[in-house]
Amino acid sequence: MSFAADVKPLFRDEDRASMDFAFDLWSYNDVKANAALILERVEDGTMPCDETWSEEKIEIFRDWMAEGCPP
Ligand code: HEM
Repeated sequence: MSFAADVKPLFRDEDRASMDFAFDLWSYNDVKANAALILERVEDGTMPCDETWSEEKIEIFRDWMAEGCPP
């Protein structure tokens, strides 16, 4: 798995723009640094603010973290 191929495509243009105040969802370093918080919010369904991620998408993010967040 890699951030570029598997994780970055999970985030839409509008996700990135909306979250710009806190971190850059298309930045490897930012997503890695906030990974636990991001996982918590997509798991509890409070982010993104306008939809809930499918279990399939959450699984990709979880697996990426389990592999040590490879770039
Ligand atoms: C997959 C996409 C998204 C992820 C992973 C995400 C993740 C997060 C996280 C982790 C926080 C907490 C930040 C902190 O406490 O420092 C947050 C806050 C926030 N996000 Fe998002 N976000 C996403 C999309 C969006 C979208 C589409 C909106 C649309 C308005 C949005 C609006 C907000 C707002 C207003 C807050 C601050 C209030 C709160 O913590 O609930 N986010 N988001």
